[in-house]
Amino acid sequence: MHPFVNTATMIARQAGALIVRAMDRRDKLKVQTKGLHDYCTQVDLQSEALIVSLIQQHYPDHGIIAEEGNQQDSTHKEDITWIVDPLDGTTNFIHGIPHLCVSIGILQNGHLEHGIVYDPFRDELFTATRGQGARLNQHRLRMEPVTLNTALLGTGFPYRELKPIQQYLAILEDLMQNSAGIRRFGAAALDLCYVAANRFDGFFEFNLKPWDIAAGALIISEAGGKVTDLEGELNFMDNGHILAAHPQLHAALLEKIQAHRP
Ligand code: IPD
Ligand code: CA
Ligand code: CA
Repeated sequence: MHPFVNTATMIARQAGALIVRAMDRRDKLKVQTKGLHDYCTQVDLQSEALIVSLIQQHYPDHGIIAEEGNQQDSTHKEDITWIVDPLDGTTNFIHGIPHLCVSIGILQNGHLEHGIVYDPFRDELFTATRGQGARLNQHRLRMEPVTLNTALLGTGFPYRELKPIQQYLAILEDLMQNSAGIRRFGAAALDLCYVAANRFDGFFEFNLKPWDIAAGALIISEAGGKVTDLEGELNFMDNGHILAAHPQLHAALLEKIQAHRP
């Protein structure tokens, strides 16, 4: 494993252990509302503080962009930046649903080079380095082609930005009629890894953030999948709209989604 992936794994495991311990003490949880249906607990903040301090300890010249506000510019000659979601699946956490993860993507000169997603409740670690494939724990991931009518799809319902609901519902109706089923699990970074692991055959969501996407997108492409925005372009890190699947299924899903886009 690349040294950055080793370090990120050690960091994600420590943050994951903190989250698991905190799950038993949820009665004392303080929940802040950041915006409509957008929450942050002291556990998100503690996880982020731990991750940021460990990154700074190991790589003081690396940049950091973390969801709950920690930012640090890279002073490394190769412009290395860690993009961190310290707890992806906060709403699940608040409700005691043990489906969440810690997500760390590492950019080098603006390109995604490494991705680490850790599910502390199942002790599942998804990793990838550009050009070196993707893994779930020790196992190599390789995505399989499936047809749309046999595909199990993952998604995220719009809940903060409500404008696209009508368009989203039209897409959902179409896919409900033409796929094997649709799930909403509530942790986008982990959902993307489920695509890489052939658990979901495809995934789409509107309005995600770079820390939801960075690690999972690389893990999918290193597993042989295709990741684009909802126009089939590569701007998903900027516009937050994402469609991911095996390349064959991706084409069929894109056609369906495009039919309902303005
Ligand atoms: C959220 C989760 C959720 C997705 C949201 C994300 P958070 O991240 O990934 O599945 O639908 O758009 O913001 O807030 O729990 O880190
Ligand atoms: Ca997130
Ligand atoms: Ca988060």
